[in-house]
Amino acid sequence: MSPYNVKWGIMATGGIATTFAKDLLCDPSTRSVSDVSHTIVAAASSSSKSRAEEFLKDIKNPGEAKAYGSYHELVADSNVDIIYVATPHSHHFQNAMLCLEAGKNVLCEKAFTVNAEQAKILVDTAKSKGLFLMEAVWTRYFPLSIKIRELIKDGKIGTVKRVTSDLSFNSNKPDSDALTFDDSHRMINMDLAGGALLDLGIYSLTWVFQILYLCQKVGEREKPKVMAAMDKYHTGADENTAIICHFQKGRTIGVATTGLRTATQPDGENSPATGPACRIQGTKGEIQVIGPLYRPLEYRVIMNGGKEGVVESVKCPIPTDPNREGKDGKGWGHGMFWEADEAARCLRDGKKQSESLTWEESIVIMETMDEVRKAGDIKYPELIETTVYDAKSSLNGKN
Ligand SMILES: NC(=O)c1ccc[n+]([C@@H]2O[C@H](COP(=O)([O-])OP(=O)(O)OC[C@H]3O[C@@H](n4cnc5c(N)ncnc54)[C@H](OP(=O)(O)O)[C@@H]3O)[C@@H](O)[C@H]2O)c1
Repeated sequence: MSPYNVKWGIMATGGIATTFAKDLLCDPSTRSVSDVSHTIVAAASSSSKSRAEEFLKDIKNPGEAKAYGSYHELVADSNVDIIYVATPHSHHFQNAMLCLEAGKNVLCEKAFTVNAEQAKILVDTAKSKGLFLMEAVWTRYFPLSIKIRELIKDGKIGTVKRVTSDLSFNSNKPDSDALTFDDSHRMINMDLAGGALLDLGIYSLTWVFQILYLCQKVGEREKPKVMAAMDKYHTGADENTAIICHFQKGRTIGVATTGLRTATQPDGENSPATGPACRIQGTKGEIQVIGPLYRPLEYRVIMNGGKEGVVESVKCPIPTDPNREGKDGKGWGHGMFWEADEAARCLRDGKKQSESLTWEESIVIMETMDEVRKAGDIKYPELIETTVYDAKSSLNGKN
């Protein structure tokens, strides 16, 4: 049987749009997938048509694809099945609404929105229009994540009592109190919903939630009580944030940290000298996740009473397509194709949301981040916090 093919439209032409689009173009058989496939039929830039053309050329899109100089034109393209929204998170609410209002299914980059109320409106709109909507937290669809969730549900390490997770970078300028980012950069610019929490902390929370929330029984999932502390950079964005998620009924605690001042892995990604980025501690042992939390490639299982050095270490490399050129000239494949496969299967099966990251869970995570920002007294400008959809908003670019 031929695979179910999905026709994608790409909204924005920045860093992650490029990475994701290249993954869409990897041959699914290189990751042993034969039931779904992907085609890019359109891309749009808010700046110009030529920028969209350049993007399609850069990713070496093999087929015919339309290049648009506005997001409005993209959402009106009847050939597009689903739109991948890859704009800064400040823009997600207005951009995803633009897509949904035009009747398009949506895969929207993380953080889903700026606040929980916006997320609820996206969900209500998708629900009322019968459209698919998913927050693009790619890590959840890694075989590594799926395997770890299975181990937890099977009770491999007993009852989980604590999860600690960190995703932080050392972005200090040498001999200065400044960060390496220009103040206008989306990482620290309040107009673009900057700060460690929404950009990196979402991954620390992803590990807390995919273990302590998603692994709870469906229909009985308990929201955490949230406590937090934040330090701010001079732009007003958070630069050092700690979150405690207390699941009181389940008697478990998640501690998620994120920041731009100290690195999770000071000596480089996947360094053997660095400890785990996430520890999942149960009554019978623990699972450690190694590597950056957005793209971990290894985990370890360490049981109580095991002799020193008796560690089950499982490597989970990302498959590559030898016919697509990567950064190093070798085959390309970053690991974003698994979330695209999930979206394709949901579309094929008529599902409106992903079971591995339901609408409810995305909203609970946004509520958690709202609580954290409240504790840290961080508020973004009204233009990006608003819950009023406006097709003509400057965030939707030119009409
Ligand atoms: N999943 C992941 O691993 C991952 C990694 C990095 C980022 N992200 C997420 O993806 C989103 C985009 O991040 P990115 O790193 O790709 O950012 P980026 O490189 O700055 O690209 C963002 C793109 O959005 C469009 N855009 C529209 N209005 C903009 C504005 N006012 N300022 C800047 N860009 C604007 C631009 O494309 P056009 O002008 O062509 O429209 C721009 O190229 C963020 O929400 C981020 O959290 C996810």
